Amino acid sequence: MPSIANLHLTLSLLLSILPLLSSSSPFQQDPIRIDPYIIDYRNGTIVRNNTLHLSSVPPTNGNDFQCKDITINIPSYRRHLRARVFLPAQPNSNRRIPVLVYFHGGGFCIGSPFYKNDTAYMAKVAAKAHVIALSLDYTLYPEGTVWDSYEDAWAFLKWVVAHKFDSHLPGSDPWLARFGDLDRVFVGGDSAGGNIAHHMAIKAGQAQLPEYVRLVGAFLAMPYFLGSSRVGLEPETITTSNNFKIWDYVCPNCTAGVDDPLINPGGPGAPSLRGLGCGRMMVYVAQYDELRERDVKESGWPGQVELVEAKGQPHVFHIQDPDSLAATNLIDDVQKFLNA
Ligand SMILES: *[C@@H]1O[C@H](CO)[C@@H](O)[C@H](O)[C@H]1NC(C)=O
Ligand SMILES: *[C@@H]1O[C@H](CO)[C@@H](O)[C@H](O)[C@H]1NC(C)=O
Ligand SMILES: *[C@@H]1O[C@H](CO)[C@@H](O)[C@H](O)[C@H]1NC(C)=O
Ligand SMILES: *[C@@H]1O[C@H](CO)[C@@H](O)[C@H](O)[C@H]1NC(C)=O
Repeated sequence: MPSIANLHLTLSLLLSILPLLSSSSPFQQDPIRIDPYIIDYRNGTIVRNNTLHLSSVPPTNGNDFQCKDITINIPSYRRHLRARVFLPAQPNSNRRIPVLVYFHGGGFCIGSPFYKNDTAYMAKVAAKAHVIALSLDYTLYPEGTVWDSYEDAWAFLKWVVAHKFDSHLPGSDPWLARFGDLDRVFVGGDSAGGNIAHHMAIKAGQAQLPEYVRLVGAFLAMPYFLGSSRVGLEPETITTSNNFKIWDYVCPNCTAGVDDPLINPGGPGAPSLRGLGCGRMMVYVAQYDELRERDVKESGWPGQVELVEAKGQPHVFHIQDPDSLAATNLIDDVQKFLNA
């Protein structure tokens, strides 16, 4: 059985050192190790497993898609946001096309839209589903908190949606302004990105004018949700898995731990899914993924939820091999979902 906690990694042994700006503390703290992803020496030195990082690729066009990177400077937002954007090679010019706002995976502390496989996957989605796909390079822990991740995602989503009201807004994106159907905006994401997409849908449902964000649907690919009580077929050992360690690491201030509403959508204090700000949801789970049981089907949400299980597949199999048959099937399902 493939390693179920494997969050994307498969290549060789290389490390990079990303010294943070913070100064070292006189108090020695034990390093936090989440093998094989990250070591945080808690003195300002973070060592990430650079296997993936080395796979960053520049934005290049393919036969059936165009690709570019954008930096967005939203007035009043405290940091610039970067994203990789995908457009079909020949976008329909008679009818505007759906917009997919996407969040990559990596346990809130690793990952990037600029990695080779994330890029390959998004390009296929944009080309096949004939949509504009935008994948956000959101803040990761410990450079920021998980709240910064969600905040970046929300600022980005609002910026995308604002093209509906003003295609000449300062810093608007010409692809969105020209081709995007802002009445057909979807959110989506893998793993931690699926968690973020879920919270964006909740926030869209709660938002009041002028923060009006209307979403058609949300696509959650093997979303990262946890909880202290076991669900369904979850193994006893799950609480010793990386999935739990990572949450403790990235959210040290979540006093309820894995029952924090951010990570346990069915836990105490979690917002009711009745208020989700979209009409449709597709949740993809993988058979060999320990996160598979925590779907949102039993939530009382009145919308349409489609649950698909990829047989024989591990966590985020579509990123581990975007050319595989299973990934192709997933992309076909995304295509149908976005164009239904
Ligand atoms: C980096 O990840 C790869 C793939 O999972 C693993 O083989 C390697 O041991 C990791 N390196 C470190 C230093 O953890
Ligand atoms: C933090 O500790 C590690 C391991 O002891 C060391 O290699 C590194 O240089 C330290 N970083 C800083 C900024 O002091
Ligand atoms: C946790 O809370 C402390 C005290 O409020 C704060 O200094 C720290 O930055 C917080 N850490 C995170 C990761 O939110
Ligand atoms: C990226 O995809 C290729 C197959 O296309 C696979 O061999 C490789 O392991 C993947 N890399 C990562 C880091 O998942």
